[in-house]
Amino acid sequence: RRTAVLISGRGSNMAALLTAARDPAYPAEIALVLANRADAGGLALAAAAGVPTAVVESRPFRGDRAAHEAAVQAVLEAHDIGLLCLAGYMRLLTPFLVGRWAGRMLNIHPSLLPAFPGLDTHARALAAGVKLHGCTVHLVTEEMDAGPILAQAAVPVLPGDDAASLGARVLAQEHVIYPMALALVAGRAATPPAADVALSNPLP
Ligand code: GRF
Repeated sequence: RRTAVLISGRGSNMAALLTAARDPAYPAEIALVLANRADAGGLALAAAAGVPTAVVESRPFRGDRAAHEAAVQAVLEAHDIGLLCLAGYMRLLTPFLVGRWAGRMLNIHPSLLPAFPGLDTHARALAAGVKLHGCTVHLVTEEMDAGPILAQAAVPVLPGDDAASLGARVLAQEHVIYPMALALVAGRAATPPAADVALSNPLP
């Protein structure tokens, strides 16, 4: 399944997906890395790995989200993309893209959703005094950070943690569960409906 990874920054989750997809048995191919900022660090990583990159800057659209998303959609179509992974893509999406990619767009979020949607999750987890924190991969729906959950990993909050140390512990787990969740969705989508076939052919 031809998959695009959308980024705005350093792209460590994107790099984890690229690494996983190097395995010929992995069910998704990272066919494009698209950034909404030309200075996204992940672009250089992707280029070095030989993956096509594209930049659709959001700034020139001056808040016209629909127009920016239409430009993004055009690039995705030009690259024949079938699955999308948001990986640190710092844009709120409109129903335009969410609707077109329903069930085919994943996001990674650095908390155990439904706890701590939104920004600054590690500082907020520390302030709340939770003893477990973590990360979530979910399908993207119109409500931010609220779609069906595909995978989660939990990490302990340790005495003396600050947002940076806790965030690093969470990030290491993000790099584990995002490739797992993408494989789940890509493998599922590529598999013929075997269960239906089995049901219509009852055992003798
Ligand atoms: C990650 O913590 C991810 O969960 C959040 O943004 C961060 C992106 O990091 N959505 P990276 O660009 O993948 O390194």
